[in-house]
Amino acid sequence: MKYLIFGNGYLGNKFKDFLADEAEVASVDIGNIEKLRNVLEDKKPEIVINCAGKTGKPNIDWCEDNKDETMYSNLTGPLVLAKVCFEKDIFMVHLGSGCIYQGDNDGKGFSEDDVPEIASMPSFYSLTKFVSEYMLNNFQVLQARLRMPLDSESGPRNFITKITNYKKVINEPNSMTVIDDLIFAVIQLVKKRKTGIYNVTNPGSITHKEILEMYKELVDQEFRYQIINTEDLNTKAGRSNCVLNTDKLKNEGIEIPEIHKAVKEILKKYKPTPTQ
Ligand SMILES: NC(=O)c1ccc[n+]([C@@H]2O[C@H](COP(=O)([O-])OP(=O)(O)OC[C@H]3O[C@@H](n4cnc5c(N)ncnc54)[C@H](OP(=O)(O)O)[C@@H]3O)[C@@H](O)[C@H]2O)c1
Repeated sequence: MKYLIFGNGYLGNKFKDFLADEAEVASVDIGNIEKLRNVLEDKKPEIVINCAGKTGKPNIDWCEDNKDETMYSNLTGPLVLAKVCFEKDIFMVHLGSGCIYQGDNDGKGFSEDDVPEIASMPSFYSLTKFVSEYMLNNFQVLQARLRMPLDSESGPRNFITKITNYKKVINEPNSMTVIDDLIFAVIQLVKKRKTGIYNVTNPGSITHKEILEMYKELVDQEFRYQIINTEDLNTKAGRSNCVLNTDKLKNEGIEIPEIHKAVKEILKKYKPTPTQ
């Protein structure tokens, strides 16, 4: 087995679908060191991709009320998995998040070297993603930071489906990640055995309004939406709106499409779910 994927969720299964026979998904608790040792001994993967974690259902507000489980799966689990991968000399990939910043860093976008303000993390979810990333960055682990994943397959976790289901939306520029481009970039980085943090978002930033206007043009001309101020969002956990700098990925020779271009191509193929 070449790849063993942990996390039988949205992105874990996207990786599995793409890697097909080269990969298996292990539904093992990533905080359980003995079970991890057993499954890695049994499957003997070359590469582990950690897509396990608590993202909250229906959203990250859940993490504010379930901090123990969130900490266990997003912080303890990745560190335990890393320890077992080091013991067995297995290359580890970890999915991180760009949701640890706010803003666009004076137009430059946040690079992998910009350390966010820990006291101003927007949510407990973001805090666990940042602390695990910071710890893993001391070791030979490849960390891919993504944001607001989307593709042409509608579903509750797809950012296009999410914003077209909200009655009211905010309108902030954000970095986002097309899932096919994430998988492509991660595989290229794995082939080069690159370690460290990489911002894996499509170059540029896009606003909610820009996406919804494209949606009206390409998917549903009858679609209507209402823009609200970000301060009027009534959520338990704060939300990150931020722009990441993608030069590091580009400097590796890994080029993925600019975000407006990428979203347009997705929307040309996107079919809303019947309930939409
Ligand atoms: N989707 C996004 O917007 C996004 C953005 C940036 C980064 N990420 C990161 O990408 C990774 C995958 O996200 P996703 O969207 O695929 O989330 P997901 O659909 O919620 O999948 C995560 C999976 O991990 C499982 N899990 C939770 N704790 C576990 C543990 N201790 N051991 C093994 N499995 C465990 C979950 O099971 P349960 O459902 O039973 O808990 C779920 O099946 C996460 O680390 C997330 O932080 C996601």
